[in-house]
Amino acid sequence: MKRLEVSTADLVAVGGQKHVYRVSGAPDTLVKVVRPDRFHKMPPSKDKVFRRLGRRLLPSRRRFGPYWEWNRELEEFIASLARLHTLPTFVPRPLGFVETTNGIGYLVEHIRSADGTTAPNLRKYVAENGFDERLEVKVNDLFSDIDSYRFVISDVRASNLVYGRRVGDLDDRIFVVDGLYEATFIRLRTMCGAAFRRFNIRKRRRLLEELKKRGRYPN
Ligand SMILES: Nc1ncnc2c1ncn2[C@@H]1O[C@H](COP(=O)(O)OP(=O)(O)OP(=O)(O)O)[C@@H](O)[C@H]1O
Ligand SMILES: [Mg+2]
Repeated sequence: MKRLEVSTADLVAVGGQKHVYRVSGAPDTLVKVVRPDRFHKMPPSKDKVFRRLGRRLLPSRRRFGPYWEWNRELEEFIASLARLHTLPTFVPRPLGFVETTNGIGYLVEHIRSADGTTAPNLRKYVAENGFDERLEVKVNDLFSDIDSYRFVISDVRASNLVYGRRVGDLDDRIFVVDGLYEATFIRLRTMCGAAFRRFNIRKRRRLLEELKKRGRYPN
């Protein structure tokens, strides 16, 4: 089978772990590929020691290598489909896996701006546009959706959130593009509603702090 060709000309983002490319002939699709230089490294983590250790012990880490996050993410998507018969609105749709010229590629829905270009992540968006009440409303909308879908997200920071729309939407909203699973060994927030709510309150507060800081001091 022919591999999907990924080339730097189609690169839309270089994350800490992944390269994100446009797919030629499919404007509504992006493909994520683990960066070759990251393949043998564990993602850097600023987390507390016990949490780091917990993650290292995850059996899926050993089994799936750098792809363990995708495995966990799919598990959560399937759980959501089994429970609610739908995926949360704030998640770009997963579209499948392909072999690319740079290893396994994860095809996902391309979130775009009104002009059709790739939507900026919130880090870039607030650096360019500042942080205002309108965006704060969007953050609140996101967290109320997270609450109502009861969907655990491990890493709610500005670079994992994009501000844009899917085909057919009339307005921009915040999408969570990464960390769509509970990363700890014991899935406390999945099991316990109080822990889930407490976590989200803290994450919302921290995200607002991050956005205000970045919005005030553009880089
Ligand atoms: N579905 C999407 N639609 C539009 N842009 C996206 C999408 N997924 C990812 N991106 C862009 O690609 C960037 C990196 O994506 P992702 O977070 O999945 O990779 P990463 O390697 O984990 O990056 P980081 O270390 O910065 O979190 C995002 O910050 C965002 O700008
Ligand atoms: Mg990320």
